[in-house]
Amino acid sequence: MAATNLLPQTPTFSKSLKYPLNPKSFSPFPNLLLRPSPKTLTLKAVLSQNPAKTLAADAQAQRFQHCFRKSEDGFLYCEGLRVQDVMDQVEKRPFYLYSKPQITRNFEAYREALEGLRSIIGYAIKANNNLKILEHLRELGCGAVLVSGNELRLALRAGFDPTRCIFNGNGKLLEDLVLAAQEGVFVNVDSEFDLDNIISAARIAGKKVNVLLRINPDVDPQVHPYVATGNKNSKFGIRNEKLQWFLDAVKAHPNELKLVGAHCHLGSTITKVDIFRDAAVLMVNYIDEIRAQGFEISYLNIGGGLGIDYYHAGAVLPSPRDLIDTVRELVLSRDLNLIIEPGRSLIANTCCLVNRVTGVKTNGTKNFVVIDGSMAELIRPSLYDAYQHIELVSPPPSDAQISTFDVVGPVCESADFLGKDRELPTPPRGAGLVVHDAGAYCMSMASTYNLKMRPPEYWVEDDGSVSKIRHGETFEDHVRYFEGL
Ligand code: LLP
Repeated sequence: MAATNLLPQTPTFSKSLKYPLNPKSFSPFPNLLLRPSPKTLTLKAVLSQNPAKTLAADAQAQRFQHCFRKSEDGFLYCEGLRVQDVMDQVEKRPFYLYSKPQITRNFEAYREALEGLRSIIGYAIKANNNLKILEHLRELGCGAVLVSGNELRLALRAGFDPTRCIFNGNGKLLEDLVLAAQEGVFVNVDSEFDLDNIISAARIAGKKVNVLLRINPDVDPQVHPYVATGNKNSKFGIRNEKLQWFLDAVKAHPNELKLVGAHCHLGSTITKVDIFRDAAVLMVNYIDEIRAQGFEISYLNIGGGLGIDYYHAGAVLPSPRDLIDTVRELVLSRDLNLIIEPGRSLIANTCCLVNRVTGVKTNGTKNFVVIDGSMAELIRPSLYDAYQHIELVSPPPSDAQISTFDVVGPVCESADFLGKDRELPTPPRGAGLVVHDAGAYCMSMASTYNLKMRPPEYWVEDDGSVSKIRHGETFEDHVRYFEGL
């Protein structure tokens, strides 16, 4: 079947899209008419054909393929919808566009990998705190990993079972710990003063708190220093040498604390599962030591951190199954419940930031594509020099010259770039350009710098329609903070 058989599908906006479609919205491709077409598209079937693979391997691989695909017709699709068509119909750009089915597929990959183990998949809310996404992940069966009182409040609002939630952090506030204690959330102990606060919170709430000790296994995660956490100089977790002190302190507070497990989190964007295995070996040794002192602990929490294929260059990265399989025997050998805390690997590849090209310019030896999105909406490239794949959403004019560009935003900072040295066809003004893998740590880290208000978010539903899942922020929202002062 040729990919050219694929018909562009008119996005059918579901009821939750509460704004009129603007028929006059600017389209750089006036010949791109929205026409009704059958709903069932075969895009994925076409692109995943590979007779050499077994069906099971295909099923596993497909979960981690990109739901945004360039088809042979030169258009970028999200689950069978042309991104260009969505872009032409929404009222504001840039915007975030997600695939709800991809979120489900990512979750299912973890759930299937965990079969045969008692486990909690604790979604790390910091990666993306969109309420609709949280509700969906909760419906699928996720617990939640929280790092602030507000994340806990949001998890409760999204309906998460608090007894499947874990409260992390090196600076948890007493009032937030009180809420966690009241709700029966697991709390990770991070330091001496943190333990003190947890004891106070238990007394104030009148409830015993289930705690895990966050131990630094001192394993190098081989990632950017800003996202490494499990080494001994990190600000997170307790020093291994102090383990006995913490065990004695817990023993001394039987009315306030119940020690239920041990936790570690090595870092983020990890692409070698051996690193998780090395840490898990150390952690089960600690668990043996702790149990030998009479504690009946039953949870091993290995944190989050699995990396994803940001480069789109065909690298084979470890899957959730690879991760779980590398620790499975250790977990079974100690009859433990396994807690994992994925953020990025559940949500990053489900989303693109969709931008419009404002213009192209050349200064000195540099070519620039200037877009309407910026470091305000997506800061990872500026902050970590992170690579996120960039491409145009529609075929460029046939005479478009291919050049090397820095893709930059309009923000008044030279650090405002989304990609450096990218080879792209010279895009016409108004062309759509996406930054891939924008589901994790992009919207949740967005700011309103230069008064660029946070963008709206949409997702493609299971039936192929598009719904708004968060309103874009407005100038009026900003001014409201000064009312009555
Ligand atoms: N658990 C703990 C204790 C964490 O600190 C984190 C992330 C996670 C779980 C989730 O890790 P993930 O599976 O998402 O890698 N802003 C950075 C990432 C910071 C990660 C912080 N901790 C970025 O944009 O890459």
